[in-house]
Amino acid sequence: MSFNVTEINRLIGVRRSVFPKDYSGERVPDSVVRQMLENANRAPTHKLTEPWRFVVFTGAGLQKLAEFQAACYREVTQRDGTFREDRYQSLQTKPLESSHIIAIGMKLDEKKSVPEWEELGAVFCAIENMYLTATAYGIGCYLSTGGITQFAEAKSFFGLGDEDKLCGFLHIGMPKPELPPASKRKPVEEKIRWVE
Ligand SMILES: Cc1cc2nc3c(=O)[nH]c(=O)nc-3n(C[C@H](O)[C@H](O)[C@H](O)COP(=O)(O)O)c2cc1C
Repeated sequence: MSFNVTEINRLIGVRRSVFPKDYSGERVPDSVVRQMLENANRAPTHKLTEPWRFVVFTGAGLQKLAEFQAACYREVTQRDGTFREDRYQSLQTKPLESSHIIAIGMKLDEKKSVPEWEELGAVFCAIENMYLTATAYGIGCYLSTGGITQFAEAKSFFGLGDEDKLCGFLHIGMPKPELPPASKRKPVEEKIRWVE
C-alpha cells in the first residue's frame, strides 16, 4: 500500500475548527456526513469495544435538538439556581446555524473490558477522524463540549445509559469562502523528549 504522504501531512496540518458563524447556510451532502461516520468507525479501539455512538441531527431534527437542549438546560439549571436567559436563548437557536450536528456518545462495554479513560480516548480518536474527513471534503466542523454535554439528565435523549457519557456535539456546515485565521501551535519540539 502506498499513500501520498505529502497530501496526508498537509491534510492534518490544515485541519481546523470552523464555527457556525462561518457557515454559509448551505446544506452539506448527507453522503459526506456518512463518510465522516464511516471513518469515525475506523478509529482505534482497545479490545475492539467500539464505544462510539452517534445521533445525527439535520433538517427538522435540528429544531428537535434545539428544543430538547433548551428545555433540558432550563429544567436542570432552574433547579440548581444557575439558569441564564442568554444561554437558554442560545441553546434554542444555535443548532439551526449548522447543516448537521452529530451528538457523540461513549457506550460503556458491558464487560467493562477496558477502563473508561480508554473508551473516551477511542471516542476522541473517532472525532479526529471526522474532523480530518470533513477537511478533506472542504467541509467545516467543530466539536462543542458545552451546553448540556455534562448533564446526566440529557443522556437518555441520545440513547445513552446512566454509566455512558455524552462527549459533545460535532457541528457541521459549509464554510464561507473567507475564514478567520486558523489557530497556531507551539513547536512540537517543546513537547518531546527523545531517549536513545
Ligand atoms: C475535547 C475538545 C472539546 C472542545 N470543546 C469546545 C467547546 O466547547 N467550544 C468551542 O468553541 N470549541 C471547542 N473545541 C474546539 C477547540 O476550541 C479547537 O479545537 C481549538 O480552538 C483549536 O482550534 P483548531 O481545532 O482549529 O485547531 C473543543 C476541542 C476539543 C478537542
